[in-house]
Amino acid sequence: MAITRKKFLKLGLVAGGAGLALSSGASASLPGGMGNATTGKLLRSAARLPKPFRVSLPMPPVLEPVRSDDDADHSDADHYEITQKVGKAEILPGLQTEVWGYEGCFPGPTIESRSGRATIVHNINELPVPVSTHLHGGRTPASSDGFPTDLILPRHQSSEEHSPHAHHGNPDRPLDNKAGWSFHQGSKDYLYPLEQRAATLWYHDHRMDFTGPQVYRGLAGFHIIRDEEENALPLPKDEKDVPLMICDRSFGEDGSFIYPARDPSLQRKPGVKEHYMEGVLGDAILVNGVPWPFMEVSNTRYRFRILNASNARRYRLALEPESSDGAPFVQVGSDGGLLGAPITHRTITIAPAERFDVVIDFSRYPVGTKVTLKNRLGDGTTSRVMRFHVVRKEKEESTVPKRLSDMSAFEALGKSGPRLTRKFSFTRAAPNGQVVWAINGKVFDPSRINARPKLGSTEIWEFSTDVHHPVHLHLVHFKVLSRNGRRPLPKDAGWKDTVDVLPGQVVRVICRFDGYRGKYVFHCHNLEHEDMMMMANFEVV
Ligand code: C2O
Ligand code: CU
Repeated sequence: MAITRKKFLKLGLVAGGAGLALSSGASASLPGGMGNATTGKLLRSAARLPKPFRVSLPMPPVLEPVRSDDDADHSDADHYEITQKVGKAEILPGLQTEVWGYEGCFPGPTIESRSGRATIVHNINELPVPVSTHLHGGRTPASSDGFPTDLILPRHQSSEEHSPHAHHGNPDRPLDNKAGWSFHQGSKDYLYPLEQRAATLWYHDHRMDFTGPQVYRGLAGFHIIRDEEENALPLPKDEKDVPLMICDRSFGEDGSFIYPARDPSLQRKPGVKEHYMEGVLGDAILVNGVPWPFMEVSNTRYRFRILNASNARRYRLALEPESSDGAPFVQVGSDGGLLGAPITHRTITIAPAERFDVVIDFSRYPVGTKVTLKNRLGDGTTSRVMRFHVVRKEKEESTVPKRLSDMSAFEALGKSGPRLTRKFSFTRAAPNGQVVWAINGKVFDPSRINARPKLGSTEIWEFSTDVHHPVHLHLVHFKVLSRNGRRPLPKDAGWKDTVDVLPGQVVRVICRFDGYRGKYVFHCHNLEHEDMMMMANFEVV
């Protein structure tokens, strides 16, 4: 049954409690209604932004394991070490930007793993703040999932010195309540069994209340899983398999990242200044850490693993000029890996944390063409992302096969028996007179369990919204069933871990809770919303 938007907004008001003023910030003036915009407020750079398409696209370095165990038994694992520390980068020409990065880099180094082979990452925290590292898209035991209050303290801070701050708007969290928190002194090992198919994952900070500013300063990197099924396909490979981390940032006059934190030291008071509570939008678009780069390509196919690592910004990616067939993007994969068959898109709308794995065929363009990757949801500096220069001819060695992957498990989802449906409304709320973001009217409490799905069970989860909320579940991948009672969008295809729920929408997803028992979060991946409490727990029992 379709729920009309008007009716839903009424429901939303009841569920959300307070303040449902809808505004969509910087992009509100764009035509086409709210589904075509971004929820957030633009923060303007004080620095002069460079001309676009002057620097070439960098590739994040691939991290080498410090050790690989190659016993014949099941304890096979690759061991990595990552130090989270302050680094410097020249992002704007002639200026130095302080980054907080994995190995001091932004983006962090790429980890490449084989499906089914364990990866163990020893994380060392040399930053001045606590951190928690989450592998987004990973099927990970709860103890290694980067739970927001499972913190690695700075090397020289003890747990007594660290007091979990009370969050504004949460009367249930007094300053001295450490229930549900755990602390590691200086370092922690994260164990990733990676019993999952090939996919483009990413790792990023997940510290309670401070994920937004800590990711913004640079704590994000790719983690790519490969498997036999995918390796056997004739898709573009090696230097034609290109990860693209897209995010927006704003810069102070001295080149520093600027962010409207209530407490810029990120020690005590969480959240952003009230004006930015819908989300922080930067005016510079970075790809792999540099503003509006260019990339030289031959007139052949390339595979791009596109990740939107922005705190709040949505993009609608398009190529200009468009290729002769009018279908420039051939999508081969989504959040959870390969699709069953490729899908062509004219544009790709990507919300925070979503991944689109696409092939672009540059043989559609004469050598010498400059092809711009545009953002149709942006304006001015945010209307473009990067540019491809088709500079040479080359023999084509790849194809996109008509069948990509066995999706029988995906197709079987939802085919048998009655199942539990749970409903979650993602709206503003004011539990303590202070406006924050909530799920079913409640703000995040690390020790409250909102749902207890049984291990191996299949459930339908229904998400409803006031404004845009990209909803993300840890541990599991799901299939989008419907939007407002209608068919899902072409962009919803394949295994997803994040769904771009539009304003006033009801989205149903179906999912099997398997892998591990334990407590995991689900939340809005607009990082300002997440930090301002739009998060909840489920426990697989
Ligand atoms: Cu990408 Cu809970 O996070
Ligand atoms: Cu949200």
